[in-house]
Amino acid sequence: SLTRVVLGIETSCDDTGAAVVDETGHVLGEALCSQKDVHLKAGGIIPPVAQQLHRENIDGVVSDALSASGISPKELTAIATTVKPGLGLSLGVGLAYSVKMVNQYKKPFIPIHHMEAHALTIRLTNPVEFPFLVLLISGGHCLLVVARGVSDYLMLGQSLDEAPGEALDKAARRLYLVKHPECSAMSGGQAIEHLAQQGNSLHCEGFKLPMARYPDCNFSFSGLRNDVNRLILRKEKEEGLQEGQLLSCAADIAATVQHLITRHIVQRTHRAILFCKNEGLLPPKNASLVVSGGVASNQYIRRALRALTDATEFTLLCPPSRLCTDNGIMIAWNGIERLRAGLEILHTAEGFRYEPK
Ligand code: KG4
Ligand code: ZN
Repeated sequence: SLTRVVLGIETSCDDTGAAVVDETGHVLGEALCSQKDVHLKAGGIIPPVAQQLHRENIDGVVSDALSASGISPKELTAIATTVKPGLGLSLGVGLAYSVKMVNQYKKPFIPIHHMEAHALTIRLTNPVEFPFLVLLISGGHCLLVVARGVSDYLMLGQSLDEAPGEALDKAARRLYLVKHPECSAMSGGQAIEHLAQQGNSLHCEGFKLPMARYPDCNFSFSGLRNDVNRLILRKEKEEGLQEGQLLSCAADIAATVQHLITRHIVQRTHRAILFCKNEGLLPPKNASLVVSGGVASNQYIRRALRALTDATEFTLLCPPSRLCTDNGIMIAWNGIERLRAGLEILHTAEGFRYEPK
């Protein structure tokens, strides 16, 4: 066929994803196998376990994506695969599989940077031009960057400790929300959002906004989470609870955590917007803030960011939820973006190794 078609493969964390996307952004086929349930039960990702699950699932996921697309491997223009950053053991599975395919079918190989793929996803669904501001918030990522081109990014800030999704997951675990009848199958972030709707952020007084005295765009969530842990301990004592019992005020604490994390995210993003305006980094009119990552599906956080973009005359853009979290589509699309931009691609994956950051 005349249009270029890319197979994308993603295994950087706990999702095995593959997709076939064409030059015009049509998703011809996709498959995704999440390990979230396994890791939720274990209380966190154990890298060798993630590696084993990727190994078990990758062949089925890639085959499903290809057969759904009706494209045979021979017809592919290139194979694009996440090579960094992520869990080394997980990345290795996708990379080894890709190397095998690239050699078997003699296809060009496009190494993909996972963050670049997240940043570019919006261009699959919305016709947004460079440059634009990106806020990436998930279980593993927290950064603010100006996307100036397909492979041109200016980093404005990142988390100095953990990511917001990680903070939400840990708070949910500390509150034993898996035992809550309404939250058992939810991720930590979803559980906090769900319970927060039934609570009030009564306990925010006395909490300091993290990094308030640092005039930059970096984030920090661990201090905030420690403060919340102290609050939980105090409440558990007041209610005379044994370890593992649910607090009667869990909803209020969920609302408090969500509110504090939201305020911090909004404050740092506001700083980034002001910095971009001062430095003339974005168009003076109709500049866009793109928000992606698993935490971007939180409606409370979205509403707060919407208020911020309204007040600063930015346009808020979010990819649909299924594209905000890790998936193969964003990797294939990043491959298309790189082909269209005429960026160099590798004509063999031989000897390509995962290099730790
Ligand atoms: O993007 P993602 O699937 O994986 C990576 O971390 O790369 O994001 C997962 C994270 C988890 O920490 C989860 O708790 C959080 O996103 N999350 C949410 C919500 N849904 C998922 N956080 C807040 N509110 C939500 N509704
Ligand atoms: Zn990700």
